[in-house]
Amino acid sequence: MHRRILLTGASGGLGLIIAELLLQEGHFVYLHCHSHPNALQPLCKKYPSHTKMIAADLLIDEDLNVLFQSTEDVNVLIHAAGIASAGMSWKVPKEEFEKVNHINYFAPFYLSQFFIPTMRQNSWGRIIFFSSVVAQKGIPGTSAYAASKSALIGLSRTMASELGAAGITVNTIAPGYMDTGMIREISEEMRTELLKSIPSRELGNSKNIAELVSFILKDNANYINGQTISVNGGMV
Ligand SMILES: NC(=O)c1ccc[n+]([C@@H]2O[C@H](COP(=O)([O-])OP(=O)(O)OC[C@H]3O[C@@H](n4cnc5c(N)ncnc54)[C@H](OP(=O)(O)O)[C@@H]3O)[C@@H](O)[C@H]2O)c1
Repeated sequence: MHRRILLTGASGGLGLIIAELLLQEGHFVYLHCHSHPNALQPLCKKYPSHTKMIAADLLIDEDLNVLFQSTEDVNVLIHAAGIASAGMSWKVPKEEFEKVNHINYFAPFYLSQFFIPTMRQNSWGRIIFFSSVVAQKGIPGTSAYAASKSALIGLSRTMASELGAAGITVNTIAPGYMDTGMIREISEEMRTELLKSIPSRELGNSKNIAELVSFILKDNANYINGQTISVNGGMV
């Protein structure tokens, strides 16, 4: 069964890999980006009848409205947009804490609120959030990011309990350190140190994440609900 999917953060490292697989599988994907629309051009060219690109800053209410108005009959929401943030908890500026939580946590809440009524009408829907191993472990210097990613775990569990009877599942994927995306922001030195903390001693193959998303969209995944699914090489 082909879905109509809104994928936020489609222009990001993981977003692109997820989008490619979902498009190969024949789904229609609204590809959201913020400042890198060019990253999506190859997919839009390759799948013109199955894609629509939407640029929106999730910090801006008017942009959110544009995004809402640009979509139709969405039955799958995947929120892969996100920003990282570094700094000890007692030093993180209020504005930074708010910004990180706005993009990572408030935005998916607002998006869910918008799309849930249609999913309920159709008695079918899938919502997928992205948390992180950082929220599960407690890593110094990540308070704003970890707080936002932990909040998604509680939100998805609650929404799953509210929406399960309506045929809608809400799950959270918690990646470890994957081989694309946000990892580009760390130095080679840090990367070497990081690998020592991963039982599998390698960064995660991002295709694991795309395959997991694809599976959650299937009808036969309807009993997987309210879960935080870790993909982290054994870290947690
Ligand atoms: N990659 C990993 O190892 C890893 C590990 C754990 C968790 N995660 C989580 O998985 C998700 C995807 O990660 P990723 O590695 O693909 O991240 P990424 O490569 O850094 O991509 C981030 C995405 O968020 C979008 N974005 C940034 N600021 C935005 C804003 N103000 N409004 C709207 N969109 C905005 C970016 O859009 P533009 O590029 O167009 O500006 C981009 O599409 C994130 O939620 C991340 O926290 C990733």
